[in-house]
Amino acid sequence: MSPTVTTAVRDRLRIAIQKSGRLSDPARDLLRAAGLTWRESRDRLFCFGESLAVDLLLVRDDDIPGLIADGVCDIGIVGRNVLLEQSAQTEQTRYVELRALGFGACRLALAVPNEFDWQGTASVAGCRIATSYPGLLAQWLRTHGIDAAIVTLSGSVEIAPRLGQADIICDLVSSGATLTANQLKPVATLLESEAVLAAPPDGFAGARAELADLLLRRIDGVLKIRDSKLLLFQATRSAIPALLEMLSDAETPTVTAVHDSDQLALQALCHGAMTWQRLEDLKRAGAQGLLVLPIERMLA
Ligand code: PRP
Ligand code: ZN
Repeated sequence: MSPTVTTAVRDRLRIAIQKSGRLSDPARDLLRAAGLTWRESRDRLFCFGESLAVDLLLVRDDDIPGLIADGVCDIGIVGRNVLLEQSAQTEQTRYVELRALGFGACRLALAVPNEFDWQGTASVAGCRIATSYPGLLAQWLRTHGIDAAIVTLSGSVEIAPRLGQADIICDLVSSGATLTANQLKPVATLLESEAVLAAPPDGFAGARAELADLLLRRIDGVLKIRDSKLLLFQATRSAIPALLEMLSDAETPTVTAVHDSDQLALQALCHGAMTWQRLEDLKRAGAQGLLVLPIERMLA
């Protein structure tokens, strides 16, 4: 008799996020805004989902692509740079970027010591380049037909030129403070990155597919209203066309009559930032009684 093999099908969805670092707080905030709550375990590596059957894995960001590829987790919140580096190293695309999340913006850049005489990308030829992104750097060098030596380091890339390990570096730049503090200047951008939702290319089946759909719909709602505001004001009929032109980011503006007045009231959902400057411009164009209201929730 042959042994029976039973494969346990996982019904709960697992999301991997960075345990500690730049993306961990905004990733948690996003999931919380999508209505997820968790019971935190003492080791803080696995958080059991309470509001939905969606659990959290708290891991090193560089481990997230592998966890997705191995099916250990279903969705990851990770920098595009991490995903593309893994794809460049394995020369396979094992993930899809479901959504760009609008936080954790940074770029992968070449940076040289301040005194380096940079004459364009040809200056890289023959250099030793320190990086934690050997796959993406090798791709870039190939594309530009440049011959240079890659020195792979797992961290502290920015001090490699001072230690004599390398001539220049290829590293992530966000505010630029790390480069400045190490007397380096950025000279070329290899990749623009931000946090993304990553998933396996084939999607999910059964209960996990339904959970993933639900979660994505909620996340879309959260992303959509992040900068959105409800704008209310009154204006004379003749001022309305010019005002609407200034509200190109507004969704379905509603114009209604105001009782006992020749004024019209306008209500619009605006997706761009509603700065003081914009309000002052609208006021100059005839908007009166401007009100900007926050959006609590949106379900398309
Ligand atoms: C990156 C990068 C730099 C720093 C740049 O590391 O390696 O050290 O951020 O940021 P700045 O331009 O704002 O100074 P990060 O802290 O993201 O950690 P990791 O690469 O080890 O994940
Ligand atoms: Zn990292």
